[in-house]
Amino acid sequence: MSISQQPVIVVGASLVGLSAALCLASHKVPTIVLEKHGGISKHPRAIGFTARTMEIYRSLGIENKDPAPEDFVLQRAHVESVTGKWGNNSSWSDTETTSETNKQKNLKTLPKPDGPKKEYSVEQGSAIPQDKLEPILEALARKRGADIRRQQKVISIDQSTKGVTVTVQDAQGDQRQIKGSYIIAADGNRSMIRELLQIPRHGRGFMQNLHSVLFRAPIEKWTKGIVQFDIEQTDLKAFLASYSDGRWALMFKDDIQRNENALRKAIYQAIGRSDFPVEIITTGSWELTALVADTFRCGRIFLAGDAAHTLPPNRGGYGANTGIHDVHNLAWKLSAVLSGKSSEGILDTYEAERRPVALLRHDQIFVRADYKVHLDAAMPAGEKIDDDAMEFGQIYLSGGFVGTDGGLPRAMKPDEWNGQPGTLSPHIWVAKDGERVPLLDLLDHEGWTLISESGAWSGVVASVAKESSISLRALRFGHDVELVRQQDFQDAFGVSHTGAVLIRPDGYISWRVRELPSNPAGILDEVLATVSFRARVF
Ligand SMILES: Cc1cc2nc3c(=O)[nH]c(=O)nc-3n(C[C@H](O)[C@H](O)[C@H](O)COP(=O)(O)OP(=O)(O)OC[C@H]3O[C@@H](n4cnc5c(N)ncnc54)[C@H](O)[C@@H]3O)c2cc1C
Ligand SMILES: *[C@@H]1O[C@H](CO)[C@@H](O)[C@H](O)[C@H]1NC(C)=O
Ligand SMILES: *[C@@H]1O[C@H](CO)[C@@H](O)[C@H](O)[C@H]1NC(C)=O
Ligand SMILES: *[C@@H]1O[C@H](CO)[C@@H](O)[C@H](O)[C@H]1NC(C)=O
Repeated sequence: MSISQQPVIVVGASLVGLSAALCLASHKVPTIVLEKHGGISKHPRAIGFTARTMEIYRSLGIENKDPAPEDFVLQRAHVESVTGKWGNNSSWSDTETTSETNKQKNLKTLPKPDGPKKEYSVEQGSAIPQDKLEPILEALARKRGADIRRQQKVISIDQSTKGVTVTVQDAQGDQRQIKGSYIIAADGNRSMIRELLQIPRHGRGFMQNLHSVLFRAPIEKWTKGIVQFDIEQTDLKAFLASYSDGRWALMFKDDIQRNENALRKAIYQAIGRSDFPVEIITTGSWELTALVADTFRCGRIFLAGDAAHTLPPNRGGYGANTGIHDVHNLAWKLSAVLSGKSSEGILDTYEAERRPVALLRHDQIFVRADYKVHLDAAMPAGEKIDDDAMEFGQIYLSGGFVGTDGGLPRAMKPDEWNGQPGTLSPHIWVAKDGERVPLLDLLDHEGWTLISESGAWSGVVASVAKESSISLRALRFGHDVELVRQQDFQDAFGVSHTGAVLIRPDGYISWRVRELPSNPAGILDEVLATVSFRARVF
């Protein structure tokens, strides 16, 4: 087996690059991160992290310190000003704004009228500002061995069949070359690497320029717990969002450049009074854009995060969250190839799995209230898909699964999928040492796990694992751990007492068998070779 000592080079140390570094380092892959800036961006940008993202961070050892309350539905208030006249509220889910009069209709999309919300995750979403999350990711990635270098601007890249070479320039203008095995381009929406590779993008495209001001002011006494506002006055149209730590961003929908005085005046106008102190922290200008790259891979170079798909900020959190999910998908595959366990074929599954996710999210943004106005006739966006289905139930169709077919819907809720290969392992509770823990915590995030209830599989797994370079473990309910509800495994995964489910290192179901087959070891070995792209050992 050839073990490559060449590092994976990650370009960009923002959310996605740092998440990539943490995932790679957790798989013990040597990793170098190159970032052109000296520090973390002062403007925090993202704040909403989804339950699925928090599951990924949980599996990497990061605790969710600010979980959203259980039935939390992020509401945006449409107001004249915060202390002025209030109109309707809307949630991300809505296709229209809501009002007292259409509350009845609303119940269909907001809290489910028929009983408690189904539990799809052990985690809740989290409201942590991007500039507070990045140092946490960076510290942990460094602790696990990632080499993160700042003030290192990548100016050119080169690749051959053997590896990659990156040329970097430091703050003094000195250049040097760094060799690696692969590149993850997490260099943002204007990705230089994507441009160098001449990879085009398609989608709704540019929508508008936005100028924002980040400020600190004690306005929470007037906001009634609402963290997002649409401000609508004849001479001020803006969006006001809280970073939940005393900081707020006011984003102007016009294209006017404002000086500090004008900014202060606009903040007072948005709040509807001026008897409070305002500290202006910084300003920003950015474009509202929706574009997805035509390909996510060119040889040894992979695009991830905004470099691969720039999705406008939305309350479903598709922007940064989608990028974090990209690198979580990619890291274990690179690790498997670099350690000689999997053949390079597994790397083709990255684009096959992640690009359709980005495309569907792109389209779904424009079916919802926030961006409906930007929908143009040339781009029919289709039907709105349920939020839980979008978050937990977007299916992957690639060579990494046995038992999928192209005719399946692109997203459904986990209980509707019922253990379908290509989808994320559903959340169930198990009891371990007298404590209730989610199945997620017992899966092997470095290797593969075969879950079952029947003792027949334990010996099968042992014999297959012994003969294979792929790390495979058995987890048997009713033996290794107890199910909290007896029927949960069979119900959630759609198998019988003798069936089994094979789960990938990233928590996706790669294969399932409803009943014990006649030659289980032979079948499992064959399936594992297929779905893991097991490298042939000569
Ligand atoms: C105002 C605003 C609010 C947002 N809110 C949300 C939200 O609530 N939820 C959400 O999910 N998303 C949100 N987003 C989107 C989110 O911020 C982005 O999706 C996310 O930051 C993308 O991360 P990234 O790491 O892919 O790219 P970026 O954050 O753009 O980072 C790219 C990094 O690469 C570095 N770099 C670029 N070129 C080079 C080079 N040649 N050499 C070395 N380094 C280089 C850059 O300096 C930068 O650090 C928001 C975006 C904006 C603008
Ligand atoms: C609130 O919603 C109702 C029903 O959709 C609509 O008629 C009304 O104009 C809205 N009010 C405001 C202030 O937007
Ligand atoms: C909007 O939300 C606020 C805060 O929860 C609430 O006080 C207000 O009544 C809501 N408005 C409507 C129209 O539902
Ligand atoms: C794209 O990147 C540029 C440069 O980093 C930034 O100024 C801009 O705000 C970004 N746009 C979006 C939509 O994130």
